Amino acid sequence: MKDLLATTLFGLEEVLAGELESMGAESVRIHNRAVSFGGDRDMMYRANYHLRTALRILMPIRSFPSRNENDIYQGIRDIEWEKFMNSSDLIAVDTVLLSKLYRHSGFISQRVKDGIVDRFRDRTGKRPSVDLKDPDVRINIHLTDRQCSVSLDSSGDSLHKRGYRTEPFLAPLNEVLAAGMILLTGWNPGQAFLNPMCGSGTLSIEAGMIAKGIPGGHYRNGFGFQKWKDYDPLRFNSIRRERYLIENKEFTIIASDISAQAIRATQKNLASAGLLGQIQVRKSAFESWNTDLNDGILIMNPPYGERFDESNLFELYKSIGDSLKHRFKGFQAWVLSGNPEALKHLELRPGKKISLFNGPIQCKYQKYDLYEGSRKNVNKSKTQ
Ligand SMILES: C[S@@+](CC[C@H](N)C(=O)[O-])C[C@H]1O[C@@H](n2cnc3c(N)ncnc32)[C@H](O)[C@@H]1O
Repeated sequence: MKDLLATTLFGLEEVLAGELESMGAESVRIHNRAVSFGGDRDMMYRANYHLRTALRILMPIRSFPSRNENDIYQGIRDIEWEKFMNSSDLIAVDTVLLSKLYRHSGFISQRVKDGIVDRFRDRTGKRPSVDLKDPDVRINIHLTDRQCSVSLDSSGDSLHKRGYRTEPFLAPLNEVLAAGMILLTGWNPGQAFLNPMCGSGTLSIEAGMIAKGIPGGHYRNGFGFQKWKDYDPLRFNSIRRERYLIENKEFTIIASDISAQAIRATQKNLASAGLLGQIQVRKSAFESWNTDLNDGILIMNPPYGERFDESNLFELYKSIGDSLKHRFKGFQAWVLSGNPEALKHLELRPGKKISLFNGPIQCKYQKYDLYEGSRKNVNKSKTQ
């Protein structure tokens, strides 16, 4: 059994570890933006196809001490690359540089490529070429001051590229972030799920996939390992039939947005995820959205302010807080925002605060239990 490494976004390590455990992975250990686990080739296929909160599944092949570029070149050249690939394969090298000894990651990737190419040329007279967009084999280098770790990237394109989004709208959430946000709430599909300000619908689609037990990689065109020398399509086909979630025949997921364009994008994306008609979509301002549901989970990702002047943004958050308080009693609301000042204008007391990143933007993901008396004492908080 080898050690495999699933990379993820900051703040999602624990939900990823939970996903891995529920699919039977052993020796699950949490790291910074990654989770390691024991597994064979089947587990690597399974992780790629079924996980929702992993970005990439890396298969470490060698780690060696290195103090300079020559050590790296030599160490790379010594690896038996012919075990993993053919001389005619197209390769791409991604370097994660955690050392100031080196100029830049592109330079290291170049030396790594040289080591691989020279090994093949010496042995076979032929050499692999580089294709950064659509390689057969993607190699991942993790470099510190003293150690060079080499992995094969079994995912190919990042796993957040689910394959269902055809229509973006404004700033869509990364699918891995959206799935992680849902799993962080502990939502179970027996509860209603509301997604006001849905934009292109990412949260609702990820919720729909969870409710229907559709694996995270179900709609993808393919995975990196399918181009590997040892790819076993029969094993992969049988792993694709495994299910780690119950398929719920009935569930209530409602997405809404004030913008007609957002609603159109959501409908298109739902259609390409095979969920059209199963998730309710409404064009509505959140301020005028009424529900007759008594409880459930509500997740929203309101604007952060890039397209607003500040006073309008604070007004918007104030009115979101009012709506939550008066019209969603009994719900647990979770709000993701990159604007901590604006969050204060909800005038609600958070029960939990989680740090996440939406792309480069540092965000807070805050939970509000909406019951009688959950409103902050506004006067008191102003005098503090
Ligand atoms: C940051 S985007 C949400 C992105 C979304 N999470 C996604 O993955 O595509 C914010 C959304 O809030 C919507 N919005 C802004 N003000 C609104 C309001 N008062 N009522 C309903 N929707 C609103 C915008 O139209 C926009 O689609």
